[in-house]
Amino acid sequence: MNLPIYMDNASTTRTDPRVVEAMLPFFTETYGNSASRNHAFGWAAEAGVDRAREQAASLIGAGPKEIVWTSGATESNNLAIKGAAQMYAKAPMGEQGRGHIITCIIEHKAVLDPCKRLEREGFDVTYLEPGSDGIVTADLVRAAMRDDTILVTIMWANNEIGTINDIPSIGAVCREHGAVFHTDATQWVGKMPTDVERDNVDLMSWSGHKIYGPGGVGALYVRRRRPRVRLQAQIDGGGHERGMRSGTLNVPGIVGFGAACEICENEMESERERLLALRLKLENGLKGLMDVVEVNGHAERRLPHLTNISFGFVEGESLMMGIKDIACSSGSACTSASLEPSYVLKGLGLGDELAHSSLRLSLGRWSTEEEVDFAIKSIHEAVEHLRALSPLYDLHNEGIDITKIEWQSH
Ligand SMILES: Cc1ncc(COP(=O)(O)O)c(C=O)c1O
Repeated sequence: MNLPIYMDNASTTRTDPRVVEAMLPFFTETYGNSASRNHAFGWAAEAGVDRAREQAASLIGAGPKEIVWTSGATESNNLAIKGAAQMYAKAPMGEQGRGHIITCIIEHKAVLDPCKRLEREGFDVTYLEPGSDGIVTADLVRAAMRDDTILVTIMWANNEIGTINDIPSIGAVCREHGAVFHTDATQWVGKMPTDVERDNVDLMSWSGHKIYGPGGVGALYVRRRRPRVRLQAQIDGGGHERGMRSGTLNVPGIVGFGAACEICENEMESERERLLALRLKLENGLKGLMDVVEVNGHAERRLPHLTNISFGFVEGESLMMGIKDIACSSGSACTSASLEPSYVLKGLGLGDELAHSSLRLSLGRWSTEEEVDFAIKSIHEAVEHLRALSPLYDLHNEGIDITKIEWQSH
């Protein structure tokens, strides 16, 4: 086992060597511009892109013409959200009353920030609050629907806590009300079975680097039939991707994205089972060794490979320092540079202290049982060490409820 071990696969994944293999010829041999129509280099590059379109579409039950290539899920979300809102707007730019959008407070910033921009452009946005289990239900969405609701954007699985929303039911509510339905499926696609027809999805974003493919390449599924969804382009010039996203395509990246999708489709069942067993071992191992350990988010409706755990009576930064040989994320926001407690954990109702002392551990294709054992041991040692220094933990052990203590100030 090599140290440090990698348990941050929700952040990004190692590119699968089979994906790299598929990409390589497209840098140095088949290096044409896929939009070049009059020579063999262009045709070969286009064939690579077309194959990738089929591989991506097959993974999600879509048609190849429903895939739009982007630079990643951030761009896919921007194109879907701004593109749909602007296309179906009920009033001109800058005027109020342009239409209503529904999203949720624990979405990724790549959804929340486009929504905020749309508010400044005259759209009205409702930010739903999930339950303390992190789930946004179809009933919550239904209750927020208005006559002028044009777009709903709710993530499939949450990137910090791994909880899974009931996307087919939310999609059905959107259908009933005639609102376009977008889902940020960055953490879901490739890990769990997806069928945009069955699941009532109109627009869906995902990203190469979360599915063992390359970074800087993503896809947006755009429904073409029943109903046809139209988008206003956010990048103009050249009319690539049926006018929805101009710019010369990143051919090697797209070929890699396609290969990554195909591997996920073929290996999903066994990978899911293996990662679920490892995650349960990790969670149960930690809970079995210590008290005041909470897994955040719904107990069952969650991704197989991701867990988010709060450790009471430890200080978050010290905990991270104590487990330097485990590459993982802390509860101090997803931008690790900031010390703000995570808005996702706060959105579930966790206090600042517990949010800070939380770890997101996300397993992946190369995670091993040995690594899980190592993580359990390291985290246990670090938590025990910090708790040995904690007077509050002593009080807790004496049976005193520290939330009820009235601290005296002088
Ligand atoms: C749920 C979710 N949406 C969007 C993104 C952004 O993806 P990308 O890095 O491909 O822009 C991420 C990645 O952190 C994510 O987890």
